[in-house]
Amino acid sequence: MALYSEKVMDHFRNPRNVGVIEDADGVGEVGNAKCGDIMKMYLKIEDEIITDVKFETFGCGSAIASSSMATELIKGKPVSEARQLTNQAVVEALDGLPAHKLHCSVLAQEAIEAALEDYEKKKG
Ligand code: FES
Repeated sequence: MALYSEKVMDHFRNPRNVGVIEDADGVGEVGNAKCGDIMKMYLKIEDEIITDVKFETFGCGSAIASSSMATELIKGKPVSEARQLTNQAVVEALDGLPAHKLHCSVLAQEAIEAALEDYEKKKG
């Protein structure tokens, strides 16, 4: 069996929503100290709906695929739903990740959490 699913390879080769949102309502940056990978998430939110999301990932292929899939899963969704996104949901949507790459999906979950926290803080 191939190490990586078709979906992981697709999102790694053609990542969705890569980039920066200059006037983002929430920005979150997280890193994994062990592998040194960094992920930054930008959210545009209107009436508690995530209208746009972009990411920059300096990391491994699984981290890129995870952030790409995570952005697809929360785009157009209410903030309350995005808050519940788990790394397991990202892994399932990618048709799985090897066990030693699960932490890459955790990074995506944490980046979204951090961006949502930033949004709440800015909202006051
Ligand atoms: Fe660190 Fe993938 S190896 S995020």
